[in-house]
Amino acid sequence: MRFLTVPPVVLHLFLLLFLASPATACTKQEKRNLLQFLAGLSQDGGLAASWRDNGTDCCEWEGVVCNGDGAVAEVSLGSKGLEGRISPSLADLTSLLHVNLSYNSFSGGLPPELMFSGSIIVLDVSFSRLNGPLPELPYLVTTDRPLQVLNISSNQFSSEFPSATWKVMKNLIALNASNNSFTGHIPSSLCIGLPSLALLDLCYNQLSGDIPNTLGNCSKLKVLKAGNNHISGILPVEIFHATSLEYLSFPNNGGLQGELDGAHIVKLNNLLTLDLGGNSFSGTIPESIGQLRRLEELHLGSNNMSGELPSTMSNCTNLKTIDLKINNFSGNLGKVNFATLPNLKTLDLMKNNLSGIIPESIYSCSNLTALRLSINHFHGEISTRIGNLKHLSFLSLTENSFTNITKVLHALQSCRSISVLLIGKNFMNEAMPPDETIDGFQNLQYLAVHHCSLTGRIPIWLSKLTNLKILDLFNNRLTGPIPSWINSLNHLFHLDVSNNSLTGEIPITLMQMTMFKSDKAGIYSDPSLLDLGLLIYAADPSKLQYRINSARAKELNLGNNKFTGVIPQEIGQLKALLYLNLSSNNFYGEIPQSIGNLTDLQKLDLSNNHLTGEIPAALEILHFLSEFNISNNNLEGPIPTKGQLSTFQASSFNGNPKLCGSLLINHCDSVEAPPISIISAKQCSNKVTFAIAFGVFFGVGVLYDQLVLFRYFG
Ligand SMILES: *[C@@H]1O[C@H](CO)[C@@H](O)[C@H](O)[C@H]1NC(C)=O
Ligand SMILES: *[C@@H]1O[C@H](CO)[C@@H](O)[C@H](O)[C@H]1NC(C)=O
Ligand SMILES: *[C@@H]1O[C@H](CO)[C@@H](O)[C@H](O)[C@H]1NC(C)=O
Ligand SMILES: *[C@@H]1O[C@H](CO)[C@@H](O)[C@H](O)[C@H]1NC(C)=O
Ligand SMILES: *[C@@H]1O[C@H](CO)[C@@H](O)[C@H](O)[C@H]1NC(C)=O
Ligand SMILES: *[C@@H]1O[C@H](CO)[C@@H](O)[C@H](O)[C@H]1NC(C)=O
Ligand SMILES: *[C@@H]1O[C@H](CO)[C@@H](O)[C@H](O)[C@H]1NC(C)=O
Ligand SMILES: *[C@@H]1O[C@H](CO)[C@@H](O)[C@H](O)[C@H]1NC(C)=O
Ligand SMILES: *[C@@H]1O[C@H](CO)[C@@H](O)[C@H](O)[C@H]1NC(C)=O
Ligand SMILES: *[C@@H]1O[C@H](CO)[C@@H](O)[C@H](O)[C@H]1NC(C)=O
Ligand SMILES: *[C@@H]1O[C@H](CO)[C@@H](O)[C@H](O)[C@H]1NC(C)=O
Ligand SMILES: *[C@@H]1O[C@H](CO)[C@@H](O)[C@H](O)[C@H]1NC(C)=O
Repeated sequence: MRFLTVPPVVLHLFLLLFLASPATACTKQEKRNLLQFLAGLSQDGGLAASWRDNGTDCCEWEGVVCNGDGAVAEVSLGSKGLEGRISPSLADLTSLLHVNLSYNSFSGGLPPELMFSGSIIVLDVSFSRLNGPLPELPYLVTTDRPLQVLNISSNQFSSEFPSATWKVMKNLIALNASNNSFTGHIPSSLCIGLPSLALLDLCYNQLSGDIPNTLGNCSKLKVLKAGNNHISGILPVEIFHATSLEYLSFPNNGGLQGELDGAHIVKLNNLLTLDLGGNSFSGTIPESIGQLRRLEELHLGSNNMSGELPSTMSNCTNLKTIDLKINNFSGNLGKVNFATLPNLKTLDLMKNNLSGIIPESIYSCSNLTALRLSINHFHGEISTRIGNLKHLSFLSLTENSFTNITKVLHALQSCRSISVLLIGKNFMNEAMPPDETIDGFQNLQYLAVHHCSLTGRIPIWLSKLTNLKILDLFNNRLTGPIPSWINSLNHLFHLDVSNNSLTGEIPITLMQMTMFKSDKAGIYSDPSLLDLGLLIYAADPSKLQYRINSARAKELNLGNNKFTGVIPQEIGQLKALLYLNLSSNNFYGEIPQSIGNLTDLQKLDLSNNHLTGEIPAALEILHFLSEFNISNNNLEGPIPTKGQLSTFQASSFNGNPKLCGSLLINHCDSVEAPPISIISAKQCSNKVTFAIAFGVFFGVGVLYDQLVLFRYFG
């Protein structure tokens, strides 16, 4: 702690000596300190080219800025590709005010000399791979440090979050410690020690315990973020004394609970963002929310809240985002006048208990880009005024009781931006609009019209959706063939038409689908930025999990229809398929050898058809297969004893009277049985290892399946 033991008087004299001299170049000592820092690096990112001790003024060195007196005041070396250790020698630069070492790849920790420097006011070491504990307060340091901005975010610090450190940081204005692995509690002394604190970001750590009520003593606090930790308990009343707060954000802690007290929340009338999603809050949205006139973002999703949405929400005229998904809100939306919310971009009410019709006022929100009303009890027709929503890119109406699909689709044609349209589980027993007058949807990537019992054929207007990537038409009553234009959908990588009454043979054009043949990843983008998560209902319904997932398996599902004919040899071209389901149709003939070419296949279901002949040996090489079903056909001969097929249960093969194998009642007679191979001890142990590995894999798989009771895209 050299710098700490120098008495200030000596320091002053020292400084005066240099300031008195007319030279405005940096001192030898400063050069030495900088070169010492350079020496600590194992990778200097080319810095050595300008940091040279050959008589140049170090004020001219890359990333070094001097003050008017020629003393080093700033070291800015962000994104320079630096590796190695941060030398404490920087702290010996007595005029140094700003240090920016962000976006490098250091090893080791942050030297305490820098953090407790007597001069530095801004220290940014974010995104720099620093690890270990954050320096503890050295016991020699007793006076206040000048540090105002400390950004240690996005490193790998892993200690208990320090509490003593902040006692000497009275000048600290911004502290960003997010995205590390800090443990322990939010220190209760934090706001006692930091009267100037305006920004505190602790999110993405491992913090636990309660929110200390002393946070309310940070009277200057504008930004408070501590999401994605394990913090529990209630929002202490005192926190509402921090009336400067603009961002109050504690999402995804899981355990925060209690009700939002209307009398308290109004005190935070500067709030722009209230984010308490992903917790266990209960009760209603208080009427007084209408007094938060500046509010732009309201996130209360994934809690246990209930009651009606208060009419006063209409008074929060700056609202851009309303996220109330996965709660138990009820009643209809009629009380809220959405027409007074012209800035609204995202309205997410997924999975609540809401009912009634969609209020007309919603269609006045012309900036709306994402509207999710899925899994509620809404009914009635969607007004043609929905066509006014020119920016709408995401619309989900899934699982309500809406009627008149023709009207919805006609109205939505004028929403040119729409890219995700999910309207399944509505429109029961209506007819698929057949007409060619439906035009538009040029940007549609994902269309889901499943579980509607729709009649009619696969309509020709779908052929114009040239950007379509995912098409879900399962669980309807569609008839007729798969149209031959199907291969004009060049981006389609997921086609599910299962559980309909489709007829005819597999068209040869289906075997030419670009995305089923290509390695290009099956990803759709969701421009609304609404995380179209895969909703996973765990066995314990209070622990809903929400996964961001914009990639889906390449899948062709024709199961449970009335298709006929043979499975074309050309199916071997669809090399990129992960799931192939042709089950419960009237396919006959042999299983083509070429299916062995679908080497990425994870699920193959050919059950309940009239397939004949032997199981192709080529199937043995499908190493990724985890689900396989050829039951209830007329297959014959032995079940292959090698490769992946030998690992499936009898149920995968049952109902083929002429099939034989050790699994089945029907053992192969010795004549046909493959010769018994004499395996060495080594091979034998390999097999045992494989069996155990498989058992573990399969065991986990089963457990997972039990956990996932049902899942769908909202
Ligand atoms: C010092 O090195 C720099 C960079 O290589 C060079 O541009 C400069 O001319 C050198 N100065 C002297 C005095 O040698
Ligand atoms: C540090 O530099 C990075 C760019 O490399 C910049 O984004 C960041 O704002 C700087 N930090 C401070 C505190 O100015
Ligand atoms: C670190 O945080 C400070 C204060 O919030 C900010 O000015 C700076 O830009 C941040 N650095 C980076 C690299 O984002
Ligand atoms: C804190 O830093 C992270 C990056 O590490 C950044 O994403 C976040 O916005 C910062 N917090 C605040 C409040 O500026
Ligand atoms: C967290 O930090 C890692 C590097 O440690 C970085 O790659 C990642 O983008 C950061 N995440 C956020 C949310 O800032
Ligand atoms: C913290 O705030 C409370 C009121 O919320 C006050 O009673 C207490 O004295 C404050 N503590 C300090 C140390 O300022
Ligand atoms: C959800 O809230 C209801 C009251 O509205 C309560 O009975 C129930 O226990 C709460 N559930 C959880 C998981 O907190
Ligand atoms: C909105 O605020 C005004 C006062 O500014 C009040 O008269 C009106 O009743 C409020 N509206 C609602 C719906 O609460
Ligand atoms: C949701 O609220 C309704 C009342 O509107 C209540 O009957 C029901 O039990 C609640 N469901 C849950 C899961 O709390
Ligand atoms: C839509 O948002 C923009 C800013 O993104 C704003 O200028 C405009 O006024 C909004 N539209 C309406 C109808 O308020
Ligand atoms: C659906 O809406 C259209 C257009 O408003 C209307 O002409 C038609 O009669 C409606 N269909 C049904 C079944 O109500
Ligand atoms: C697999 O594909 C290759 C060409 O990619 C072809 O030569 C081979 O015959 C195919 N195998 C089967 C079993 O169809």
